[in-house]
Amino acid sequence: IREQLNETPQPASWNLLDAGLQTCTRCPLHGPATQVVPGTGPRDAALMIVGEQPGDAEDSLGQPFVGPAGQLFDRLAAQAGLDRDAAFVTNAVKHFKFKHGTKRRIHQNPNRSEVQHCKFWLDTERALVKPKLILALGATALASLTGDGNGLLKRRGQIEAAPDGTPIFVTVHPSYLLRLPDHESAAAETAFTQDLRAATNHLA
Ligand code: URA
Repeated sequence: IREQLNETPQPASWNLLDAGLQTCTRCPLHGPATQVVPGTGPRDAALMIVGEQPGDAEDSLGQPFVGPAGQLFDRLAAQAGLDRDAAFVTNAVKHFKFKHGTKRRIHQNPNRSEVQHCKFWLDTERALVKPKLILALGATALASLTGDGNGLLKRRGQIEAAPDGTPIFVTVHPSYLLRLPDHESAAAETAFTQDLRAATNHLA
């Protein structure tokens, strides 16, 4: 399957990308999800921000990073002087993955196969946007972009390269900050804001 995917030519236009995403059946996640969540933002953005996958709110609204992790990201990005509206914001995986709890849908991490299948779309977005810098939020984004998501905390704050040479600034995912105990969250938010500021400076 991997070989077949790699051989499939990537859609050469935004229209083909949009149509392909809306009808994607490359992995089983399209079935239970409400809708696909494509990347949003200027199509010639200098900065591309890559998260993991849509959550509950994103699945309902069809937009990336609009739920709790997105709101935290927006708050810290504003402090860092990073203009989210000027960036193309997307995810490594474009459908929400969840299991049903008693009251709500519970987010599940995408597996390697789902990330690998959806890489086709992320690669297509990258090829169309041609960003100067990619901000990888967390291990799933890093795995999709570089082929290796291990050792995130050691790689954090560094610039790596995608296979085509595009620089990738590595940092943690904002939902990691949301999961920390209260006494750790202020320092972690400061460190994340510093990463966002460093990434923004790299673009200047
Ligand atoms: N987390 C992500 O990785 N992406 C989103 O779009 C929302 C939450």
